[in-house]
Amino acid sequence: MYVQARAARTVYDSGENLLICGSGLQLPPEVAAKKGEIQFVYLDPPFMTGESFDRKRAYGEQGWKKGSPTLTVPGYVDKFADEETYLAFLQGMIENARVLLRQEGVFCLHLDWRMSSQARLLCDQIFGKEMFLNEIIWAYESGGRSKKFFPRKHDTILMYARSKKYRFDLTQVPIPRGENRKNHMARKIDEEGRSYSSILSGGKEYRYYDDDPVYPGDVWTDISILQQKDPERTGYPTQKPLKLLERLMKPVVQEGDWVADLCCGSGTTVAAAERIGCHFLGLDANPEAIAVAAARLKAEDLTILSETVVDGVETSATYDPETKRVKLGALNLEGEPYPAEARKEDLTESWELGWLEGEVFRGEKRYQRSFQYPALVDDVAVGGDRIPDLLMTDAAGRRRVYTWKE
Ligand SMILES: C[S@@+](CC[C@H](N)C(=O)[O-])C[C@H]1O[C@@H](n2cnc3c(N)ncnc32)[C@H](O)[C@@H]1O
Repeated sequence: MYVQARAARTVYDSGENLLICGSGLQLPPEVAAKKGEIQFVYLDPPFMTGESFDRKRAYGEQGWKKGSPTLTVPGYVDKFADEETYLAFLQGMIENARVLLRQEGVFCLHLDWRMSSQARLLCDQIFGKEMFLNEIIWAYESGGRSKKFFPRKHDTILMYARSKKYRFDLTQVPIPRGENRKNHMARKIDEEGRSYSSILSGGKEYRYYDDDPVYPGDVWTDISILQQKDPERTGYPTQKPLKLLERLMKPVVQEGDWVADLCCGSGTTVAAAERIGCHFLGLDANPEAIAVAAARLKAEDLTILSETVVDGVETSATYDPETKRVKLGALNLEGEPYPAEARKEDLTESWELGWLEGEVFRGEKRYQRSFQYPALVDDVAVGGDRIPDLLMTDAAGRRRVYTWKE
């Protein structure tokens, strides 16, 4: 039968990229080892909202298909005793971010109206005023609107260079002019069928083709916050869109560069880095964030430094020595946060076959639910005579390891 064991780290292939459960204030040794090597560091810390955020997640085949049923798990707490405590936290984070950057590197700090002005002064102190690059306004449409003042519908992203040698290439983020057109010029179609706007000046016609690239300024209105049914959405609170991270990152990084996020949450930065072909390092104090981020990544060249849960939860997964197959069984999950009415087999989000070597789980094959494939593969042939160990992640983002005992 499969019995619960413990893994301190999970490694896939070369294990080069890192997802770590830990604090951005006390850099773990694996992160400290990257000092001076990171090309892009993004920080999207708690904003000092005074709130606790939950993660609401659909589970099981029906959940993935239809958006319900759901379960609710505590996400992260954004509460600080006072402004001074918050600013000390932020200062520690920004200093650590700077230490990680290489000379050509760039730092982004994402906040909102609450603390962005104080943060700007902190960044000026830590990076030097002359290293300021941008204050980007990311404006979006969302929920409630105050009538007592203009609705606060933007976040502020401060961008600083590590040194004057920083790298930045705006041509990496073209936007079709059509999407970005904000003028009243008449639109016409030319002989080749291309649409354009034009103005006459000094007897000369200036044409602006809709399909010519233009480049973003520092006010971004064309990136929407994630909608309820967005396939990108993980349910992790305050998840940012991939498009936003890609726009921030692409002018700064080249393939093979290192990217880091010291408060990675659902893993948007690391997922964007993987898509662009960069190495990545994601750190978060919340183990569930690490599980959510891991699920967004290909299980390749990755080390996850986050201990698996040891809580005696049993699994009915089995190995059949005749057929040499592993059959997925349910996790015997009970109590909070698992809904009493949930079918146990619906509460498994993903499972993996691999080998437990001491405290290291070496992952080989992962099966997980997705929008495209909401049902889990539940019966797998195993090559060879060795009986694989299992890593099972439940719908609340808790990871448990099981090893076979005769
Ligand atoms: C605003 S969320 C990040 C959201 C993320 N950008 C995304 O797209 O999903 C802030 C994150 O900071 C994490 N956090 C809070 N204090 C931390 C600390 N000291 N070290 C690392 N992470 C921390 C929280 O757990 C939370 O996941």
